[in-house]
Amino acid sequence: MAKLVEIIGIGHNPLMHLRLTNSGDQSPEVVKLRERFGELQQRLTDARPDVLLCIGNDHLNTLFMDNMPAFLVGKSPHAEGPWDWELDLGLPSYEAPVDVSLAKGIVSGGFNHSVDFAFSDEFKIDHAHTIPLKHLRPQMDLPIVPIFCNVMAPPIPTARRFYQVGEALRDIIEELPADSRVAAVCSGHLSVEIGGARSTMGACDPEFDYWSVDMVGRGDVEAVCRELTFERFWQSGNYTAGFLTFVMLLGLARGIPASLYDIMPMGPANNPFFVWDL
Ligand SMILES: [Fe+2]
Repeated sequence: MAKLVEIIGIGHNPLMHLRLTNSGDQSPEVVKLRERFGELQQRLTDARPDVLLCIGNDHLNTLFMDNMPAFLVGKSPHAEGPWDWELDLGLPSYEAPVDVSLAKGIVSGGFNHSVDFAFSDEFKIDHAHTIPLKHLRPQMDLPIVPIFCNVMAPPIPTARRFYQVGEALRDIIEELPADSRVAAVCSGHLSVEIGGARSTMGACDPEFDYWSVDMVGRGDVEAVCRELTFERFWQSGNYTAGFLTFVMLLGLARGIPASLYDIMPMGPANNPFFVWDL
């Protein structure tokens, strides 16, 4: 039977990637972040995964308003990205084979767990996938299964739905006949506003950031599902709903407290970290 062996969630703020990869930037906060990513790479190595389930939110790069699934599984044999305009911004590229059998198994298994995943053979992974993959598994030596979540085009799924889908993914993985070790890597947002009055590259509501990370990290499922409404996200920035991918991770962990959860500030940005060692 397949087994989930590790869950890691990080932010995908482009500024974080740009500073981490600027060798001339030796400021203490960046050095600490590099150390953190070194630790996470080791945790992932120690978990000995065969495949990475990579969960990210779409940025209206692959999915569009006219045909928007809530949750989509990429199942073509090969994944690569990001898009050209993201490369122009200095964001990382990544490519990997897709574990097509696992991808199909997740879609099929979803039907037994009240989740009708959309699926596609026509996609690119964008920086929501390439940043966690590049910084957690730079060797690019494992197959992946990308999952895309809608957090941008209302109506978006509720926090409870993200949690339920995470729970379902855990059950589906553990029911698969293949004897593979699956690690989940994921990226999401804290408070952020894109193009609006509060637009910055960093946090626009630090109080929300610490409150929400603590709630998920402690495994307070009922508070997470009750408090993290679309309206509450909107109060803290027009793109803050990107936090919901971390709620899916809590569901994957079946609601237990995270082994590690914190925020590492870097300049104006807050960078979240979640780890569940299973
Ligand atoms: Fe994003």
